[in-house]
Amino acid sequence: MTTAPPAADRSPGPSEWQSAFDAAVAAEERIEPRDWMPDAYRATLVRQIAQHAHSEIIGMQPEANWITRAPSLRRKAILIAKVQDEAGHGLYLYSAAETLGVSRDELLDKLHAGTQRYSSIFNYPTLTWADVGAIGWLVDGAAITNQVPLCRCSYGPYARAMVRICKEESFHQRQGYELLLALSRGTEAQRAMAQDAVDRWWWPSLMMFGPPDDRSAHSAQSMAWKIKRHSNDELRQRFVDICVPQAASLGLTLPDPDLRWNEERGRHDFGAIDWEEFSQVLKGNGPCNEQRISQRRRAHEEGAWVREAASAHAAKRRARETAPTGRLPGSTTGRPADRTAAPKGAPAS
Ligand code: 3HC
Repeated sequence: MTTAPPAADRSPGPSEWQSAFDAAVAAEERIEPRDWMPDAYRATLVRQIAQHAHSEIIGMQPEANWITRAPSLRRKAILIAKVQDEAGHGLYLYSAAETLGVSRDELLDKLHAGTQRYSSIFNYPTLTWADVGAIGWLVDGAAITNQVPLCRCSYGPYARAMVRICKEESFHQRQGYELLLALSRGTEAQRAMAQDAVDRWWWPSLMMFGPPDDRSAHSAQSMAWKIKRHSNDELRQRFVDICVPQAASLGLTLPDPDLRWNEERGRHDFGAIDWEEFSQVLKGNGPCNEQRISQRRRAHEEGAWVREAASAHAAKRRARETAPTGRLPGSTTGRPADRTAAPKGAPAS
């Protein structure tokens, strides 16, 4: 934020800080960690960024399920790289959240306790290899549609993290599309497997964008703060419009009998989303909620020794960097000088 709060020879009052913040948001300036910000803005960012970070690391599970069974070395290498990218996205996002004064440990505790959410989409199972393609094409495709506008989020660290994440997600989306294309051009059984995966992932992908606008608790305020740039329904519509021609190129159908082009709107109409299913998944009653969270808790517990070792190593390095060198004047070795050695230049005995 470059708009200076009105402070000259006195401390500004709360309304002056607020006005400076509002002016910075209106002028499309970035809010940075040390800038003043309203408590509710900070809390909204922590909620959204934490939920996003949790989604990235929980999202590693459904795809990791297929690493050992990928059909070729090439597919395995791609899948490993993708799952690893998701871990990296989690790290960028936890770091962005930490700039708001919360710690990663605190956020992970909340995820494990079930008091912070992760995306509904990762509570569905990956039953066949084609699901890896459907996740790439639809889930990562939905994620990109939602996340490209977040590169313009008013909060600097989140916006900057999103730039790299979106580049990587774009690769993820393409590999999913290419995988489905290979299956749809393969044997009849492979084509059927691709179609079945698309049938199962289509509706949950539309739910990723969140509840309809008239039931979205946070959208209006988040858009006023320029955290979100578009409403849930706007982005969902954009995603449907992108997917329809892509499905046709894949030779696959989207499982919605009401899906059709609306000449008047210049957009596709689509069928009703089962919001009851979405609500059940959010309440923890999706097909894989329990499995995902218990596996995450177990991974966290089993990784305790790695975190302890990394902390011990960091502490050792810090101590080494701050400790006095122990070097005596004139010594170049860093070891105490050999007091029995003859001083430099002394005649040899
Ligand atoms: N899954 C779980 N919870 C969801 C949800 C979803 N798909 N969509 C909405 N919700 C929750 C909200 O968190 C909120 O819950 P709360 O009040 O208890 O916190 C409630 O439903 C109401 O929804 P709102 O529309 O009011 O919430 P938001 O304004 O936060 O909008 C959002 C929801 C569009 C998901 C927004 O938070 C967002 O854009 N988040 C950043 C992107 C993100 O989190 N993506 C995760 C997708 S997966 C991913 O990125 C991994 C990649 O590898 C595919």
